[in-house]
Formats: sequence, structure tokens, C-alpha cells
Amino acid sequence: MSTPPRAPGGFPVVGVIGGGQLARMCAGPAAELSITLAVLAEAPDAAAALVTPFAPVGDHTDVATVRDFARHCDVVTFDHEHVPSDVLEALVADGVAVHPTPQALRHAQDKLVMRRALTGAGVPCPRWAAARSEADVVAFGDETGWPLVVKTPRGGYDGKGVLVADTVDDVRDWLAAAAERDEELLLEEAVPFVRELAVLLARSPSGQAAAWPVVETVQTDGICTEVIAPAPDLAPEAAEAATLVGLDIAAALGVTGVMAVELFELADGSVVVNELAMRPHNSGHWSMDGAVTGQFEQHLRAVLDLPLGSPRAREPWTVMGNVLGGEPTDLYPTYRHLMARDPELKVHLYGKGVRPGRKIGHVNVSGTDLTDLRERARHAADYIQGVIVE
Ligand SMILES: Nc1ncnc2c1ncn2[C@@H]1O[C@H](COP(=O)(O)OP(=O)(O)O)[C@@H](O)[C@H]1O
Ligand SMILES: [Mg+2]
Repeated sequence: MSTPPRAPGGFPVVGVIGGGQLARMCAGPAAELSITLAVLAEAPDAAAALVTPFAPVGDHTDVATVRDFARHCDVVTFDHEHVPSDVLEALVADGVAVHPTPQALRHAQDKLVMRRALTGAGVPCPRWAAARSEADVVAFGDETGWPLVVKTPRGGYDGKGVLVADTVDDVRDWLAAAAERDEELLLEEAVPFVRELAVLLARSPSGQAAAWPVVETVQTDGICTEVIAPAPDLAPEAAEAATLVGLDIAAALGVTGVMAVELFELADGSVVVNELAMRPHNSGHWSMDGAVTGQFEQHLRAVLDLPLGSPRAREPWTVMGNVLGGEPTDLYPTYRHLMARDPELKVHLYGKGVRPGRKIGHVNVSGTDLTDLRERARHAADYIQGVIVE
């Protein structure tokens, strides 16, 4: 592996393991701050590798590869949660600054570890249990009511790894697959939430923390499709309570960098925690254009233990619309129409190949009329996806 180019003047190298869109979106803020971004990429054409001069291709599960990559970095952070703990521990043993630390990251890598820790810390969660057998599933379903929600503790994303089970029959294949991996499944009550919220915050190794306004996230078929910042009609006390849940979790688990806490809002206005992510998160993409400090800049500041930037929203509302892969594969031609139609729209595409349902970009639009902003974000996402043609 060669050496990443460093800017003169004492600027650091931040290494990101994984070359997806989250690593890619750190590139703009890194360039502005004269920080060198290094990426351990899955392939030469990974989303982040396309925009980062130093992006060696390597396997993030291979200790030697990751150690070699980390040698060049002042701090190592992540695009995803999939780096095995023995690899992370090897970096720590080498004296590499890893943020979030392996100890904290475990709670984002494994939903059972997360549930145990949050329940232990008194954080409100859905009723849950670990299951190895059909008897475990039946016992939990009979106690909490059917259907129940079944999750693979590790490796799930965008609703993959989440199953709504009406009877134990629906869980049989998953139990067998889990048994083969010598893993348990996570069972949760099906929460009758009124909507989904997210708290996004950053915390630095020194313990400084900054939280963005609480947002509403809209999921379609398990994939986030829209985020509204701030969450409409959320009482200030409820927003404060949700933010405190996030800050308490971050402090209790020793989180460093950006963390997202996905929440379910219940009919009485209270919240329970769905899951945690310890990296920039889809629910925070709005902040790139809608907040004084975007989540990718803030993540760099946090992992470098620099003072954090203001998370204040610049406008009353920002709406983020996710762009999912559709029929069209030529996306650049959409720019002419979209940019002419809506000069205030911000388009972010990730340089990824189009596959149906795959997250390939997002749009942000900010202003004062929420209904209008939602319509414009929806229009732009639909247009890029080829759902509409004008
Ligand atoms: N216990 C639950 N009750 C009701 N809906 C749930 C529950 N758990 C998850 N969901 C729904 O499934 C979506 C994906 O679940 P999540 O655990 O966040 O998985 P992922 O890791 O794929 O994001 C959630 O955003 C929510 O819409
Ligand atoms: Mg989720």
C-alpha cells in the first residue's frame, strides 16, 4: 500500500473503512477542512473510491489488510458496522485511534447486544426477547401478542433482516439459519407507533456532544424514503425528552462520532428506541444543506476531537427525499430538467450503479412551506427514479 498524500500544515488523515456513500459524502467536508480522507474500499469503483485519491481496495474482515491501511491514518472510522471485533481489537492493540471504539460499536453491530445494554441502562425499548427455538418464539408471541417482529441481530439493513411473523411457522427458516450461525434471533413486540423519529448527534472523545433537531423519518417497505426536519408537530418537551434519550445513550455507551437513534413515537407522545447507528445516517442527510453543520463535517470533527459545529437548522423546514434505483440508468440527463425547474433543490447522487430499490442518492430542499417542500422533494426523487417524466 502506498501512502496517502497529506496537505502541508499539519493536517491529519482520516481513514474510513468501507467505500459506500457515507464515506463518499465525507469527501466534500474533508476537502474544505484540508483533511485527507483515506478509504478502504470494496472495489475500485466503490462510491467513495470514485472521489478519494487514496482508496486502496481491500477486505475489511482481513486483519493484515486493515492494519496495513490503518498505519497511514491518524484516526480510523467507519462507513458501515461490519468490521469484525477481532480486527478492531487488533487496531486498538496497535495504538490506532478508532472512533467509535470497538466497545461502543458493538451496540450498533448487534441488535441483541444493543437491547441488553439499553434495557440495563433503563432506556425505553419495545418488549423483546432472544430466541433459539420455536418454543421461545411461541412463548414470546403468546405473551406480547401476534404478529411479532423478528430480527437477525447482525448484518441487516434497509429492512433486510426484519420479518413480521404472524405465527411461529413464519420464523422456522430463520431459526434454522440462525442455528447454523450459532446465533440467536431478536424478537420484538410489533410496536403500534404513530410515526418514526430519529435523534442524530455527535459526541467527541473529550465528551462534547451536539444534537441536531429531532426529525421524522418515513419508511416504505423497510427503507427510509423521506425525512422531515424538524419532526412536525412534535411538542418541545417531547423533542427535548427524545434528545436526552440520545445524549444519555451516547454518554452511557461512550459513543464517539455521529450516532443516530431510531425511535418509535407512541400515541401518548412517549418514545421507545428502535435501533442505533454509530456513523452518519440516512436520517441526517438533510443536515448537509439544512443545518449550519452537516453530519459528515461533524463526524470528521468528532472523530478528530475537534470542537463540534453548530447543529442549528438554517431554515424552518428541510425535507430530504431518498432516490432509489428504478428503471432509468442514465441519471445525468435528469439534471437539466430538475435544476431548471427548482433552483433551490440540492441533488446528491452517490456514483452507484442503479439497481431496483438500491439507495443511489437523495435530494434536499429547505424553506418555510412544508407541504410545498415535500411535494418538491417527492417530485425530484420520482423524476430521477423515472416514476414520472416531467
Ligand atoms: N418492533 C417493531 N415494531 C414495529 N415496526 C418495526 C419494529 N422493528 C422494526 N420495525 C419497522 O421495520 C423498519 C426496519 O427495522 P430496523 O430494526 O430499523 O432494521 P434496519 O436495520 O433494516 O433499519 C423500522 O424502521 C420500522 O419501520
Ligand atoms: Mg433501521
